[in-house]
Amino acid sequence: MCGIVGVVGKPARDIILNGLTNLEYRGYDSAGIYLNDLNGNEYLTKAVGRISNLKEKLTPDEQGLVGIGHTRWATHGKPTVDNAHPHFDETKRFYLVHNGVIENYAELKEKYLQGVKFHSNTDTEVVVQLISKIAREKNLDGFSAFKKALKLVKGSYAFLLVDNTEPEHVFIAKNKSPMMLGLGDGFNIIASDAISVLDQTKTFVDLQDGDVGDITKDSYTIETVDGKKVERKPHVLDIDPNAASKGTYEFYMLKEIDEQPSVMRKISQTYFDENDDVKVDPKIIDSISKADRIYIYAAGTSYHAGLVGKTMLEHYTGIPTEVGLASEAGYHFPMMSKNPFFIFLTQSGETADSRVVLKEVNKRNIPSLTITNVEGSTLSREADYTMLLEAGPEIAVASTKAYTAQIAVQAVLAKALGEALNKAEAKDWNLKHDLAIAAEGMQQLVDSKESLKEIADKYLIKSRNAFYIGRGIDYAVALEGALKLKEVSYIQTEGFAAAELKHGTISLIEKDTPVIALINDPATADLTRGNIQEVVSRGANVVTIAGKDFAREGDNVVLPTINYYMSALLTVVPAQLLAYYASKDKGLDVDKPRNLAKSVTVE
Ligand code: F6R
Repeated sequence: MCGIVGVVGKPARDIILNGLTNLEYRGYDSAGIYLNDLNGNEYLTKAVGRISNLKEKLTPDEQGLVGIGHTRWATHGKPTVDNAHPHFDETKRFYLVHNGVIENYAELKEKYLQGVKFHSNTDTEVVVQLISKIAREKNLDGFSAFKKALKLVKGSYAFLLVDNTEPEHVFIAKNKSPMMLGLGDGFNIIASDAISVLDQTKTFVDLQDGDVGDITKDSYTIETVDGKKVERKPHVLDIDPNAASKGTYEFYMLKEIDEQPSVMRKISQTYFDENDDVKVDPKIIDSISKADRIYIYAAGTSYHAGLVGKTMLEHYTGIPTEVGLASEAGYHFPMMSKNPFFIFLTQSGETADSRVVLKEVNKRNIPSLTITNVEGSTLSREADYTMLLEAGPEIAVASTKAYTAQIAVQAVLAKALGEALNKAEAKDWNLKHDLAIAAEGMQQLVDSKESLKEIADKYLIKSRNAFYIGRGIDYAVALEGALKLKEVSYIQTEGFAAAELKHGTISLIEKDTPVIALINDPATADLTRGNIQEVVSRGANVVTIAGKDFAREGDNVVLPTINYYMSALLTVVPAQLLAYYASKDKGLDVDKPRNLAKSVTVE
């Protein structure tokens, strides 16, 4: 993870600090900045914690026309000032920031850097010391030494390097970690994502794995590590910078929960034509139609969206569908059917665990589709096909609108594929209508959010643990509800198949344990009511979230009626709101829970 920003040719300090603040979703254990005023003065400042701590440490005269900055999510070495980036070599000539993991750092240190004095425990410092050693021993300029060092380095990286003997350049290299080059008038900027620097430019060059570059204020050269020039054309990014702003909200998470009705409408507009016919790239449909089995791979919340997608795909297309955790499949590849098709669900399009599976899929020439929120992201580029979530930037670390968008886009895919396969269930399905119902239902739920605050305050915030239970699609939502609650409120929460509790876990239920029960599955609603009684008799405080058609007197939240296969779109909203209020009312930083990062680019 980690976020990086570099600037050449413009007062760099505030641009970097602003960019790093926007990138805090990538990690926020510690931060640092190196500035060079091109007049012989250079400044290095680092701080533990948020960018705000770094800002406080900087004095007004620390300015520069070239600079590199970093916000860290610790992998090697604790979050301390010494371990914060930028790192420097023992001669203090080179300054380096890095997002990624150097796999062979111990070997490089042992083989090439015996006797060198290290200041940190990081893998990154090994690289900057190596560059310096190569430059000195082979009498090379900084860029040549950098390229020589890269040939020895194994792992993932987005590097920004400044050599203070020629500080008007920032040297860059990318492998498996995201990095964009933004082009300005008389300045250039490099960042982990485009949104973080959208206030500076909208013209970007997408860098690819293996790219190495020399960036000055009015030029950029991209080449391979062997010095072969590569052409990377700029494009203008059509994103509204306001989409990434918090507006009047205290936290992005609530803004993003509230945006879900409009995301549903946007998906409907994008994937239906003027005749209300579903519209998906025919090449995608043609390719999946040939599959005898669909494999969905994802992580975290996206995996939970995949569990809902499986149910829809199987029901509307008749194609057996498996869902797996990408982190488990990368090195234990599933046994496959004859004609598999792989779907990757990833909000960011950068998740390393998912990418490992995609690489294997590509090696085996299996067709694949990435469903992502980020156009041009790594998994989007590397899969055969892409479908976009159209959810707008999701900034809060805990995913909300991307989850519901993933479910809605999988519904679109199930509808289009089922129709192509001539399945009556798909042909008779008025998905456009269901998306409208979902949008309307979500609106009702977010409009009555105060009732969820009361429930969170009454049952959750004083509790150390909690349970979500449900059956069928409700079980998939129970897993997501539990993840949401635990990640932002630190209340240990488990999502359970309602009937499974009695097979062991029910022993954890005691007086006042909160149990949130989800009831939307027509086949099992009554049975779930029975499971609720089992925990009530053991003293649990039960919160029921039930579809209108299954509701009983006393239920805490009644959801508008919706097609069962789409029910997750509504059931999850109260769960998201409970998590939000539990976190906020405990006084936590809702958008940035401890130890987490939004885009997980390490395995
Ligand atoms: C939790 C959350 C994570 C992500 C997971 C995968 O709220 O957001 O569990 O879902 O890290 O990320 P993507 O979807 O970017 O691949």
